[in-house]
Amino acid sequence: MVKVAPSILAADFLKLGEEIKAVEQAGADRLHIDVMDGRFVPNITMGIPVVKSLRRGTRLPFEVHLMIEQPENYLEAFSQAGADLLIVQQENSVHLDRTLQAIRDLPKKAGVALNPATPAGVLEEIIEKLDLILVMTVNPGFGGQKFLEYPLKKIESLRRTLDRRNPSCELEVDGGIDPRNARRVAKAGADVLVAGTSVFAHAGGPEAGVRSLLQAVREK
Ligand code: DX5
Ligand code: ZN
Repeated sequence: MVKVAPSILAADFLKLGEEIKAVEQAGADRLHIDVMDGRFVPNITMGIPVVKSLRRGTRLPFEVHLMIEQPENYLEAFSQAGADLLIVQQENSVHLDRTLQAIRDLPKKAGVALNPATPAGVLEEIIEKLDLILVMTVNPGFGGQKFLEYPLKKIESLRRTLDRRNPSCELEVDGGIDPRNARRVAKAGADVLVAGTSVFAHAGGPEAGVRSLLQAVREK
């Protein structure tokens, strides 16, 4: 069954506690937390104290998407703050094997994100060591961007590779996901859909946002 991970980047930060309760009640599977440093991406978002406070507000697992330089320096802090799964970007992880090992030693689940222009082949040597692969369908940095179509091929090919080499590794997709494209993304092979704007800016509120995404992917 396809899972939904609301990205709190699009939430109303004045009532973050209520918003995460709403998505939990609506059947979201985990929370996606976007950390940006104004260096790896041209935007700054939230950090360790936010994760720590949120941890008291929900039972949902947390995945922390680190769009920052030298993510290896912050793994332990995010882990202690409450992250269950840590996702680093392949593009700024020169010693990716070491970083993944550091995450596993915490011990937390380890994921790697690929920018739209990054080919799946960069993971060839370490595919067996991953708990999650995150395929970006926008260029990381901002919520509310337009969904890019061309990474769908990469999702299809990673699905085939994972089925063969690491079936328990999750395939997640992030960027511009809404009820109109969610089904196609799931059909391409995604296990988990990240959604910010389509959940938190939904006209009916975040609960309705989660429900309409779940409906889109689960209906026959
Ligand atoms: C983009 C972030 C995404 C973003 C998704 O850099 O990684 O997680 O919050 O937001 P939407 O769903 O609005 O594209
Ligand atoms: Zn993200």
